[in-house]
Amino acid sequence: MNKLGIIGAMTVEVDIIKENLTDMHCTERAEITFCEGKLKGLPVVVAQCGVGKVNAAMCVQIMCDCFNVTHIVNTGVAGSLCNELDIGDFVVSQNAIYHDFTCQAINPAYIVGQVPGLSVRFFEADEALRSAAFAAAEKIYPGHTRIGTVASGDQFVSDKAVKNQIVENTGALCTEMEGASIAHTAWRNGVPFVIIRAISDKADDSAQMDYPTFEAMAAKRCAAVTQLLAETL
Ligand code: ADE
Repeated sequence: MNKLGIIGAMTVEVDIIKENLTDMHCTERAEITFCEGKLKGLPVVVAQCGVGKVNAAMCVQIMCDCFNVTHIVNTGVAGSLCNELDIGDFVVSQNAIYHDFTCQAINPAYIVGQVPGLSVRFFEADEALRSAAFAAAEKIYPGHTRIGTVASGDQFVSDKAVKNQIVENTGALCTEMEGASIAHTAWRNGVPFVIIRAISDKADDSAQMDYPTFEAMAAKRCAAVTQLLAETL
């Protein structure tokens, strides 16, 4: 591990991590602030990319091109897609997929998530990062972490029918708005990655109430896992 890129979409997802950086200096590219420094001795660059797939992809590409990251972690909140995952629980990515990418109308082989021209539909997370992230999450909240698929799209999911459709199409454990884009861009650059998410809501009709209530708690909890992960790398 030479340099870890840490990405969160919102300030609440990365600010606590930034507060713990030593030797911090920040630079701006494409209106994203990249803060370099050391986290418990590990060289890192931390950025708040903004919400959604395009912001996330831009951030990863800049981290690869201008900040020489060797590994990437995405930290943040997510909506649960399965009954076993409650608010505050964690998902560590086995892989990630787009739930809103479909070209099936032109070719039946292009099922949901398949980007035409790409050899994969699911972007696989790095095994070593995945095990280290799982171990860190287990330390913070024992027995409340699952490894599985993260489904991403440019949509806040708060409708049971939409939620069920995403589960049927992707088999994912949680949904959010950046992970697969970060995974896609990291994969295209040959950079190992993992996504860690804490559940803030159930991605159904309760989400509009739950999300604002639990967002900060879940984001901070996930940041704590990410920091612990960085300490062990
Ligand atoms: N992030 C947190 N909860 C979410 C949801 N329900 N849909 C999309 N992104 C989310």
